[in-house]
Amino acid sequence: MNLKEDFLWGGAVAANQCEGAYLEDGKGLSLMDVLPSAEEGRKEAMYHPEVALKKTYKYYPSHEGIDFYHRYREDLALLNAMGIKAFRTSISWTRIFPNGDEEMPNEKGLEFYDRLFDECLKYGIEPVVTISHFDMPIHLIQKYGAWSNRRTIDFYLNYCKVLFERYGQKIKYWITFNEINMITHIPFFGGGVTVGADENANQVTYQAAHHQLVASALATKMAKGINPEIQVGCMLAAGSFYPYSCAPEDVWAATEANQNMYLFIDVQVRGKYPSYADRIFKAENVVIRKEEGDDEVLRENTVDYIAFSYYSSRLIGVGPEALKNVADGNAITTLKNPHLDITPWGRQIDPLGLRTTMNDLYGRYEKPLFIVENGLGAFDQVSEAGQIEDDYRIDYMRKHIIAMKQAMEDGVECLGYLVWGCIDLVSAGGGEMEKRYGMIYVDRDNRGHGTLERKKKKSFYWYQKVIETNGEVL
Ligand code: BG6
Repeated sequence: MNLKEDFLWGGAVAANQCEGAYLEDGKGLSLMDVLPSAEEGRKEAMYHPEVALKKTYKYYPSHEGIDFYHRYREDLALLNAMGIKAFRTSISWTRIFPNGDEEMPNEKGLEFYDRLFDECLKYGIEPVVTISHFDMPIHLIQKYGAWSNRRTIDFYLNYCKVLFERYGQKIKYWITFNEINMITHIPFFGGGVTVGADENANQVTYQAAHHQLVASALATKMAKGINPEIQVGCMLAAGSFYPYSCAPEDVWAATEANQNMYLFIDVQVRGKYPSYADRIFKAENVVIRKEEGDDEVLRENTVDYIAFSYYSSRLIGVGPEALKNVADGNAITTLKNPHLDITPWGRQIDPLGLRTTMNDLYGRYEKPLFIVENGLGAFDQVSEAGQIEDDYRIDYMRKHIIAMKQAMEDGVECLGYLVWGCIDLVSAGGGEMEKRYGMIYVDRDNRGHGTLERKKKKSFYWYQKVIETNGEVL
């Protein structure tokens, strides 16, 4: 099928995984700035931040990232040479509000994003902006308990107001929260939330998520008030759950897992908690404390499009056989699917699952979808001649783009396809550099060694052709 001329081919990154300059120009500390590399126990730190926050590590990958803060001009020139039409990045909350609860923003932080967005626009590249991508200000975590405290809605809206007023006339696509469902899997990433030993973790995280949902709806209202042309999206860590077998119990487990996944974006897209929410809350002993007017705010301020990340489908089953083999589901538990290939990081590869997921999402909501993350984390070798022959990445992307086009032939409306980590960056889950996603190589290793020099990989030229032909030559 022929894609529309304005289809948004592009790439995506997040501030905390590429900018570095972690204290420069008045920036404050965010939760990512206190996380170590995999080698020093990043997993423990993500799941037990209360322990991690008391420690001092030797190396913090976010502190320098790939030095995008200083090299964004060079990087955007390269991305422009690749032909991208859209560039997704996030704004670092602590560049704008170093502590999160100030009244006035940090002008130097705002100036950086003026320069960054103007550089994109100079090339005709559409910025797609995530307001909060796993980088809550540490001060809000330590003083208020981050999203578990309703006051954080006001801090977030204060931040949004500054962003919409400053950039709202030139940026059309906004995302209020990256992977909103991540909060129930890694509460610290998703909401800066730490759960006390005597607390019901579900109560804390679902309540925090409720605050985010209200904040997202109010931010949507605010954005439209400032510029009615703005398009606000929710963002899901997507990947449909398959049942392990045709046993009815496995099928039901998959139904439940999919409902858990959709719960928050059901609210953002349809404007109310779905009918099955009560069952989930009852089972988890959760009572959502709402304030007067919350339901109305949610109902009246739904999103315009559904952004999502897709790395793989997921698998769930309840029998002992099924439970034997767990794979890496990008922080969301999944079983190993014997029909799928698997990466060295344990992530499964399922292009057809993208078609299924897109059909599931579009069938449920009938609102435009936007693939804002898809890509392969892999080891890359630089040959003696300085080449990076990443055919495996090309193969991954080709198959996923074919699946996306098939979904569009199925009738799904999709605004664009953004490759995750179009330039190598620090992995969120592992803090590693060597789990590379990019089509542009960055010379830096897991311990922060390397020249930071950029090099085009083979996939760079391949993707360039894909974009040039609007997805015809794959
Ligand atoms: C998504 C996140 O969950 O997955 C990104 O939005 C992240 O921030 C990406 O980098 C890939 O995960 P990882 O752990 O391989 O970096």
